[in-house]
Amino acid sequence: MSSENLPQSPERAESTRPQRSKPRVAVVFGGRSSEHGISVVTAGAVMKAIDRTKYDVLPIGITTDGRWALTADEPERMAITDRRVPDVDGLAESAEGSVVLSVDPGSREVVHTEPGSVPKALGEVDVVFPVLHGPYGEDGTLQGLLELSGVPYVGAGVLASAVGQDKEYMKRVFISFGLPVGPYEVVRPREWDHDPSAVRKRIVDFAGEHGWPLFVKPARGGSSMGITKVDDLSGLDAAIEEARRHDPKFLVESLLRGREIECGVLEFEDGPRASVPAEIPPVTAHDFYDFEAKYIDSATGLVPAPLTEEQTAEVQRLAVAAFDAVSCEGLVRADFFLTEDGTFVINEINTLPGFTPISMYPRMWQESGVSYPELVDRLIQAALTRSTGLR
Ligand SMILES: Nc1ncnc2c1ncn2[C@@H]1O[C@H](COP(=O)(O)OP(=O)(O)O)[C@@H](O)[C@H]1O
Ligand SMILES: [Mg+2]
Repeated sequence: MSSENLPQSPERAESTRPQRSKPRVAVVFGGRSSEHGISVVTAGAVMKAIDRTKYDVLPIGITTDGRWALTADEPERMAITDRRVPDVDGLAESAEGSVVLSVDPGSREVVHTEPGSVPKALGEVDVVFPVLHGPYGEDGTLQGLLELSGVPYVGAGVLASAVGQDKEYMKRVFISFGLPVGPYEVVRPREWDHDPSAVRKRIVDFAGEHGWPLFVKPARGGSSMGITKVDDLSGLDAAIEEARRHDPKFLVESLLRGREIECGVLEFEDGPRASVPAEIPPVTAHDFYDFEAKYIDSATGLVPAPLTEEQTAEVQRLAVAAFDAVSCEGLVRADFFLTEDGTFVINEINTLPGFTPISMYPRMWQESGVSYPELVDRLIQAALTRSTGLR
């Protein structure tokens, strides 16, 4: 931890709103989801890209068991080395103690507490940049805490984050806004717990109508974790068990044949705009676009996607419509299938998409004329000008 991120003296705790020349950005990363590691990697890239002449940075890592820890402002230690992802436990300043953000909306103080020590004031933060994927980060829970704290933050609010994390409700919202969605079934926890054979029958009927293979996925997951492509009935139970290891609610979808097209949406002063789209080519070494393919070899996407002008305009229109349908803020990546009949079907949105400089979202914006540091700056500025509370 560099000394400039820590208060020099305890007086800082008493001063209510110290005059700072630069806004202070708390970058919050890691977390309890299975995407902990990639979140750390992304936070390192974001911290590196933040213009330090314009902003101060306070890095806060959340360990895999949920402790908020102070970490060093050393983005170079937060990269993938030898195909291994870093974690917050390895970066935390101490093995105990936690960072606490006041839930008093009148105070933006951050305090570090440690058993047996006097709490240490870390000063105020002006904005939080949650660089967290999945549950307890991208799903509205952290956003709720930040709303209570009265600290503005980058990205989607509570509702949009929660909807964007839940594949069932996301589809229901898309459908109600007229966005094209593929065939699917939802299985709630109680249904499977009470009558698995009825659920199996429902899935077999679904396959009878739409054909095998099926995709079985946890409702609230990410990075392809817990998703299995099932070729026939014999693989169904194992796939359900795997999905339910991530979420007791799961979805069954029919296989959508076609090309995978993604499009970034970024909020500008005059509203959301779509980036050039990208195409994720089919991966040969993997059965589908899985965790490793997506995050460690993430430079495989084609930017821009080889589409006609009409197709590009259409997918951009749908991406902005998805952003608006879910009431997103700041940014979203909308993922589509361009099916064999030439129409787009929306698969999902990600309210905090993969965000390393080689991830698809920043690459799509790079190709659209917005560099990675500009993207980071624009998101922070958008959050600073937005107030918390009802909006
Ligand atoms: N219905 C489907 N048809 C074909 N491929 C699919 C389908 N659902 C998922 N996939 C493949 O699995 C990947 C991960 O699924 P997705 O629903 O995007 O979950 P996640 O939230 O984990 O990214 C997709 O990018 C795609 O390659
Ligand atoms: Mg996806």
